[in-house]
Amino acid sequence: MENKKKIVVFASGNGSGFENICKKLLDLEFLEISKLYCNNNKALVLDRAKKYGIENFIFQNNDLKNKKVLLDLQKVKPDLIVLAGFLKKIPTDITNKFKHKIINIHPSLLPKYGGKGMYGENVHKKVIENNEKESGFTIHYVDQNYDEGDIIFQKKIPIKKKDPVNLGKEVLKLEHKYYPEIILKCLSDGKS
Ligand code: GRF
Repeated sequence: MENKKKIVVFASGNGSGFENICKKLLDLEFLEISKLYCNNNKALVLDRAKKYGIENFIFQNNDLKNKKVLLDLQKVKPDLIVLAGFLKKIPTDITNKFKHKIINIHPSLLPKYGGKGMYGENVHKKVIENNEKESGFTIHYVDQNYDEGDIIFQKKIPIKKKDPVNLGKEVLKLEHKYYPEIILKCLSDGKS
């Protein structure tokens, strides 16, 4: 099919979110997962990309600043850039060129528990420590600041057990349920 919508995914580590996106979206005729961008050449997500036949672009963190990543993105021309467990800040030249075309998923109810260092279990530990009654995840547009762009979607769950590992698993399961749907929604809403 011509004129397929193109998405690319940025990930740094495990990549369960990336694999979930592949499982749910790869068969869609009107969409192409064009590339995985990864800043860690030992990341498990690279094996997952290989399994699904997705091309990868491995880069050094410095390549975010020296425009190597930006230049490649400008060649690929994605309709949407999907961050799924990507741990580096996206520089302003990329956020400016791809305004409302970059989305991220974060395992808390932003604006709470976002920002530098707030990833993975750190988030869930803090949430439990602070006796929060609920948590969840947030999908948002990416701007020049960590975890601060406009919110697209949030899902809340009550915290039943004071156990960060358990909370992390529950939140991740929900992320996997909703992220592919929201990616499709962003593509069809026209902003991207
Ligand atoms: C997810 O919790 C996501 O919210 C956050 O990073 C985690 C990624 O996990 N941005 P994985 O690498 O996809 O398994």
